[in-house]
Amino acid sequence: MPHLIQAQNLCLGYDELVIEKANFAFNDKDFVFITGKSGSGKSTLLKSFYGDLEPLAGKLEVCESSLKGIGNFELLKLRQKIGIIFQDYKLIQEYSIEKNIMLPLMIKGYSKKACQEQAAKLLKHVNLIFKANKKPDQLSGGEQQRVAMARALAHNPKLLLCDEPTGNLDEYSSDIIWTLLKSANEVLKACVVVVTHRIPSHLKVNYRRFNIENGKMNEVF
Ligand SMILES: Nc1ncnc2c1ncn2[C@@H]1O[C@H](COP(=O)(O)OP(=O)(O)OP(=O)(O)O)[C@@H](O)[C@H]1O
Ligand SMILES: [Mg+2]
Repeated sequence: MPHLIQAQNLCLGYDELVIEKANFAFNDKDFVFITGKSGSGKSTLLKSFYGDLEPLAGKLEVCESSLKGIGNFELLKLRQKIGIIFQDYKLIQEYSIEKNIMLPLMIKGYSKKACQEQAAKLLKHVNLIFKANKKPDQLSGGEQQRVAMARALAHNPKLLLCDEPTGNLDEYSSDIIWTLLKSANEVLKACVVVVTHRIPSHLKVNYRRFNIENGKMNEVF
């Protein structure tokens, strides 16, 4: 089996280099934490995984696609295999909660009925079925992040990328997010990659941890 994510001498950055010659491989079913100080390059790394930032040098493969010089069509295909959760939710304000969750399935070409059924199932998982017709700005931050979590899982992604998913959340919403990430990893067999400042101590999952410091990314054993 090829690795789900593989980097060889990967260099990432903008005007200046942020990550230098990183070598790593994440597999199906891995639960990976990415840690490092503010500004160390954690979000930069995640961006490269979903093709928002092209490698400056080296090799990066995600779900068997090479990210260097990837074309729009292949990128669209790749993103259909990925679920993403951002710290600031990034929900579509004009759409209802239900429609936000239906969106990744509509892009995949599922029928409206199938999309609605899946959205209802996920809204139950995040305890928000009673808010299905609300718009994102009518929800609290924790509720919006739970919707973002439901949207990220809607299309059964092989890879879940999460950037500080519980950064601003209270314990109730954080617990729902961690429980869903754990079950996405264990039940749906998704590879889960989480950027975080603090690894939750109560999370009962076998994880790997990579730390970024001074441009170097190393696995912490
Ligand atoms: N679009 C951009 N253009 C230029 N430089 C950027 C850009 N985005 C980030 N950087 C720089 O790249 C470095 C890494 O930023 P990044 O956002 O990856 O850090 P981070 O580890 O996610 O930090 P935090 O924990 O604060 O979110 C920082 O020095 C930042 O200033
Ligand atoms: Mg960041």
